Amino acid sequence: MKATWILPDGQQTTLDVAEGTSLMQAAVAKGIPGVIGECGGSLSCATCHVVVDPDWAARAGGPLPFETDMLDVTEAERQPTSRLSCQIRMRAELDGIVVHVPQV
Ligand code: FES
Repeated sequence: MKATWILPDGQQTTLDVAEGTSLMQAAVAKGIPGVIGECGGSLSCATCHVVVDPDWAARAGGPLPFETDMLDVTEAERQPTSRLSCQIRMRAELDGIVVHVPQV
C-alpha cells in the first residue's frame, strides 16, 4: 500500500507502507523531513504531526480523544484535518493516502 507525504515546499515522497505500520514509522524510516516521532508513537511528543489531505480526511477519521489533547501542543498550528501520524495505521482503505507535513 502507498502513502504520499507533501513537504511544505511542495516536494512529494511516496512510500510503500505495510498494513499495520503507522505513517510516522514509515516516514521516520525513510527520513522524511519534519516527521520526527520522538516518543516512538506513544502519543507524548506531537512531533509526528501531519495534516491529512482533505480528500482523505473522512477515510482517515478524526483524532482519538487522547490524541486531540496532544494536537493542541503541536509546533505547527493545528489544522482542521491535523492528526498525529503515529496514530494512523495503514489499512486497505487508506491505500494512496496523502498527508501534508506542516511548516514549522
Ligand atoms: S510519535 Fe510521538 S506523538 Fe506520535
